Amino acid sequence: MLIKKPNDIKWYEITDKATYLNRRAFLRSAAMTGAALVTGSASAATLPIERGAKLAGVVPSAFSTDETPNSYEDITTYNNFYEFGTGKNDPAKNATGFQARPWTITISGNAEKTGAINLDDFLAPHTLEDRIYRLRCVEAWSMVIPWVGIPLADVIKRCQPLSSAKYVVFETLNDRQRMPGQRYSVLDWPYIEGLTIAEAMNPLSILAVGVYGEILPNQNGAPIRLVVPWKYGFKSIKSIVKIHFSETRPKTSWEKAAPNEYGFYANVNPQVDHPRWSQARERRIGSADANDDSWRSIFGTSKQDTKMFNGYGEQVAHLYEGLNLRRNF
Ligand code: MTE
Repeated sequence: MLIKKPNDIKWYEITDKATYLNRRAFLRSAAMTGAALVTGSASAATLPIERGAKLAGVVPSAFSTDETPNSYEDITTYNNFYEFGTGKNDPAKNATGFQARPWTITISGNAEKTGAINLDDFLAPHTLEDRIYRLRCVEAWSMVIPWVGIPLADVIKRCQPLSSAKYVVFETLNDRQRMPGQRYSVLDWPYIEGLTIAEAMNPLSILAVGVYGEILPNQNGAPIRLVVPWKYGFKSIKSIVKIHFSETRPKTSWEKAAPNEYGFYANVNPQVDHPRWSQARERRIGSADANDDSWRSIFGTSKQDTKMFNGYGEQVAHLYEGLNLRRNF
């Protein structure tokens, strides 16, 4: 049985609902004088901290696919999270001791509401939603993942970006003690990603805090990560500590590492190949050919066709009208 230390017990676990809501009102007014990010709502999302803890008050979403999700095992043992190693199983092994709480997110740049806010207060005004999405990695494998998250658009609205804000930039924690992979210069740390404001406001974009109705495992980007399902997986940045509203397009980590291979847009597109392999097909993890990690499987014989915008064209194609997707890859 798990016995919690007193300072691990959250006030929302020991107070009744009325006290809890008063406390929220207090935090709200306190926040208004500082970071000013917490606005009112009856359906406060709260996040437990124990590994594997169930998330409460999660509602379904019409944006979920009815495809069968991958197993919890697939989703939590086949990962890309270079801060914990470059092997697919490294994050599951190396991130076990990562302390994802307490966690602070800093909002900065061209917005009315900026400042540092702790994760509980950041999430409090939102309702958690189930979002079962396809994930297509640029490496030509894919999964179906039942995320739990909040619409990014609602967060953006709360920050009240100025008209000069054209991009939203996200940053992962930069701490080589806690993220040992950052001791190696495989990427220019911290991991940075970005979206146009229109992409960030699209109803498909979420900040995920859970998987399979439970809090996000460390290897999947605890405690909070981006999920943009029509883009290659590397856009879905993990363990976010900064959200910045920028007038100019950021140089993202993968763009810096290999600009001719990983573009800013990174929309899933079966017609535009990676310079070193085809993007026409994908290997669905958990399917018959999934465990075949051979070059043959990765670069040619995978069974499943990749769909334009990963099958989310109806929701996002309008964002790219008139844009040359071959040049803006
Ligand atoms: N975010 C950070 N900070 N570091 C990473 O190495 N890898 C990306 C993305 N987000 C990565 C990251 C890549 S390449 C993919 S495919 C997805 O995370 C994988 O997410 P998953 O491991 O939860 O499936």
